[in-house]
Amino acid sequence: MIIFISIFVLTSLISSTLVFSSLNNFPIARPGCKSTCGEVQIPFPFGIKRKCYRTKQFLVTCNNTDFTPPKLFWGNVEITDISLDGQITVVRSIAKNCYDKQQNRSSDNNPILELPSNFRVSNTANKFTIVGCDSYGYVSGRRRIGRNFTTGCTAMCSSRNDLQERECAGAGCCQTTFPEDVWWVRIDVRSYSNYTKVSDFSNCSYGFIVKDKAFTFSKDNLTNLSNVTKLPAVLNWDIGKGTCEVAKSNLKAYACKSAESECYEPVSGSGYRCRCRNGYEGNPYLTSGCIDIDECTLKISNCTKNAKCENTIGSYTCSCPKGHKGDGKEGDGCVKKQSLMIAYVLIGKHSWERNNADNIEEMEYLLPNNHDGMGGVSSSVGYDSISRDHIGLPINGGGGR
Ligand SMILES: *[C@@H]1O[C@H](CO)[C@@H](O)[C@H](O)[C@H]1NC(C)=O
Ligand SMILES: *[C@@H]1O[C@H](CO)[C@@H](O)[C@H](O)[C@H]1NC(C)=O
Ligand SMILES: *[C@@H]1O[C@H](CO)[C@@H](O)[C@H](O)[C@H]1NC(C)=O
Ligand SMILES: *[C@@H]1O[C@H](CO)[C@@H](O)[C@H](O)[C@H]1NC(C)=O
Ligand SMILES: *[C@@H]1O[C@H](CO)[C@@H](O)[C@H](O)[C@H]1NC(C)=O
Ligand SMILES: *[C@@H]1O[C@H](CO)[C@@H](O)[C@H](O)[C@H]1NC(C)=O
Ligand SMILES: *[C@@H]1O[C@H](CO)[C@@H](O)[C@H](O)[C@H]1NC(C)=O
Ligand SMILES: *[C@@H]1O[C@H](CO)[C@@H](O)[C@H](O)[C@H]1NC(C)=O
Ligand SMILES: *[C@@H]1O[C@H](CO)[C@@H](O)[C@H](O)[C@H]1NC(C)=O
Repeated sequence: MIIFISIFVLTSLISSTLVFSSLNNFPIARPGCKSTCGEVQIPFPFGIKRKCYRTKQFLVTCNNTDFTPPKLFWGNVEITDISLDGQITVVRSIAKNCYDKQQNRSSDNNPILELPSNFRVSNTANKFTIVGCDSYGYVSGRRRIGRNFTTGCTAMCSSRNDLQERECAGAGCCQTTFPEDVWWVRIDVRSYSNYTKVSDFSNCSYGFIVKDKAFTFSKDNLTNLSNVTKLPAVLNWDIGKGTCEVAKSNLKAYACKSAESECYEPVSGSGYRCRCRNGYEGNPYLTSGCIDIDECTLKISNCTKNAKCENTIGSYTCSCPKGHKGDGKEGDGCVKKQSLMIAYVLIGKHSWERNNADNIEEMEYLLPNNHDGMGGVSSSVGYDSISRDHIGLPINGGGGR
């Protein structure tokens, strides 16, 4: 008994260590380069020192003299997240307009953001937002392709009671989208009449481009945004100019360095990016940066519980225990080898005994699978269904590489 327990403890210890190392295995930065600053990861192409970043546009600095934990900066802009999917989250100054009744004076702050050539303000992950009760604001921008633009909205109210928590549809708060491909923006906020009618509860307007989920309107924000100077926004980046085809023709400059990486062109913008192929994870911009995902150890395979999962390079296989057939994957799974007749009788009897309506559905579902053990798609033999099978299920026994 004691021996049995200690073996059990030992095996579970080993398997948990395996899970841990497999999650942390892939390289983030080039060898010898700092890969974190405080809590922020710095994946290549971003880097702090020469030879650690790809081009000057990806040069960042880690300020650990004035901040604990240290903060990551890109020029004078703070970065809170870098994603290898081609996004970074930065903390941006917000635009303000306030009016001081006593001195009959208004103050303004209209921040400008200007990005290097392979960066854009994401128009899908952000919203342009105005908060105020006698307010309007607009964002003016320049695009790489297409025309300059100006867009904006109006936020009004006559009392705090007009305002609805979490609602940003014109009363005290308004939001609007803006076009794609924007590399330069300026935000302006104004009041219509110096907050004359609302001055007992509001004498400022605020405007910002903010990450969608990072701002939810509250009545309190009319006043307490005065203490907020910066909010997060999402920027998109490409690794290089041009299409994948053009990029591949100059292998020396081509950024997708990992053998298991592939090139793609994002929907907006005019450059290309890299990603690890299906079944791999890691940093596609580094040589040997993409490593095999061990789907079995990570328990993300589609093998059913009774099937045996085996990792292969770039993929995995599921196999059914002895006396079972099927592909071992969710949906079809492994079915006990039995004649159609017996299976029908067993399942039928079972559902009869439990007298449960659900079991009738289950029976209808199981029967066609039992017919050849493979399920509906592959049993309809035809050129079309075979080729579709290949495209739809790239992860299939042995076919990964
Ligand atoms: C850190 O930030 C402070 C304040 O923004 C600045 O004065 C200082 O020069 C920075 N230090 C480094 C090493 O960047
Ligand atoms: C504020 O000053 C402007 C001129 O700068 C003047 O036209 C306006 O009447 C003044 N408003 C108040 C409330 O004193
Ligand atoms: C609001 O205040 C500014 C600055 O004092 C002043 O120039 C402007 O005329 C005022 N506008 C109105 C509508 O009172
Ligand atoms: C956009 O605005 C800038 C600055 O005002 C100007 O130099 C540029 O020519 C404009 N671009 C277009 C396409 O109108
Ligand atoms: C109005 O603005 C002044 C500073 O300009 C500030 O001290 C005051 O608290 C503000 N009042 C309201 C109601 O927000
Ligand atoms: C808005 O007000 C809510 C409620 O007080 C607060 O939790 C949130 O931090 C405020 N948002 C900003 C950006 O200040
Ligand atoms: C905003 O005000 C509310 C209540 O007055 C407070 O609980 C919250 O922490 C404030 N948020 C900020 C960011 O100042
Ligand atoms: C702004 O911050 C100061 C100091 O942290 C605090 O005393 C004040 O109440 C805050 N104001 C608002 C409107 O949240
Ligand atoms: C599991 O199956 C689903 C649906 O077919 C697919 O989207 C997913 O990528 C599969 N997961 C793995 C690890 O193969």
